[in-house]
Order: sequence, then structure tokens, then C-alpha cells
Amino acid sequence: TTYQVGYFIGSLSEKSINRVLSRALIRLAPAELEFREIPIKDLPLYNHDFDADYPPEGRALKEAIAASQALLFVTPEYNRGIPGALKNAIDWASRPWGTNSFTHKPSAVIGTSPGKIGTAVAQQSLRSALSFCNSPQMSAPEAYIQFTPGLFGEDGEVTDPATQQFLSDFMADYKAFVERVLTVLPPR
Ligand code: FNR
Repeated sequence: TTYQVGYFIGSLSEKSINRVLSRALIRLAPAELEFREIPIKDLPLYNHDFDADYPPEGRALKEAIAASQALLFVTPEYNRGIPGALKNAIDWASRPWGTNSFTHKPSAVIGTSPGKIGTAVAQQSLRSALSFCNSPQMSAPEAYIQFTPGLFGEDGEVTDPATQQFLSDFMADYKAFVERVLTVLPPR
């Protein structure tokens, strides 16, 4: 069986190191996972006045999540939280009330930063939002990737065998998690 994975990059930067990490994850993932990016950069800033009539960007976001069987968040940490652009996308997808796109949608979070704690604090905050939004999350393994020079090539080649193994194992566990969730929790 193949699974459609919609992935979010929390950074809008052209040179995002989290985008590089996403390329590595896609390279190392089990072949049964098919990846499609869910773009967030064109979303207006959400407020609930939009709920009466979602604009095309908001609809496209909700349709992209509906078309995905599972979600993967690859995000930087900004000032000990997730970037506003990603939080904005989550807020869009969670509404209009009663149509929360995350309900029963399995997810996992991962991120990279140049610093030693590698997005750990942002991931905690993201997990809290996803919990509230009723998205079953892979609780372990956790993955806080310190982006050191030369660790990844531009296209996500991983130069360090231990990191390569760790990321392959993460994606293998993710696939098993998604499979398990979809077996017990039918999409809603
Ligand atoms: C950062 N950075 C950062 N890093 C971190 O580990 N914890 C943090 O709280 C912050 N805060 C922060 C705020 C802002 C506004 C910026 C621009 C950056 C550094 C960050 O990890 C680094 O810029 C990464 O390159 C961002 O990831 P992308 O955009 O390259 O994927």
C-alpha cells in the first residue's frame, strides 16, 4: 500500500535548511510514502471573518490536507516557537469551526537549526497545537537535527552515516506509525 504524505516546511526562505532536511527525509523514506509539499506562503493572515467564505488559498490548503493520508512538519524554531507563517497555516486549516482538517490525520514533527538544541522548543509548541487539533502524532522518536556545515548536500544527500541511519529509521518508524493509525482511526 502507498500513502500520500503532505509535508509542510515551516520556513519561507529560499535557502531554508529545513527544506534541505525535507529533501534528505524524502530520499531516505520507505518507497511506499509519496510526498507532496503543502505550500503556506500565499495564505493571508487568518482571522475568523474569513470563515463565512474561505478565499481560494484557504480552500486549497484544506483540500491539500484532505488529499493527504498523513502529514509531516519540517520546521525551524523562531524565538522559541514555530514561525508565524506555519502557525498561520495551522490556524487556517483548523477552521471554519467544525471542519478542522487535522482531525484523525496522523502527523510527525522534525526540524533543524544551527544551534545545539535543534528546534526542540518549537517542536514542543507545534505538538501542543497538533494535539489540540486532534492529529495523532508520532511521539517517538524525537528528532532535533543540528545543521552543521557539510552534514547535508544541497539536494539532501546525507554525508554522515550515523545521521543517515537515524533519519532512515525515523522515516521507517513514521511509515509504521501512519499505517497503524490509519488501521484504527478511519479518516474523517
Ligand atoms: C532564528 N533562529 C533560531 N534558532 C533556534 O534554534 N532557536 C530560535 O529560537 C531561533 N530564533 C530565530 C528567530 C528568527 C526570527 C530567525 C530568522 C532565526 C535561527 C534559525 O535556526 C536559522 O535562521 C535557520 O536557518 C532557520 O531555518 P530555515 O529558515 O533555514 O529553514
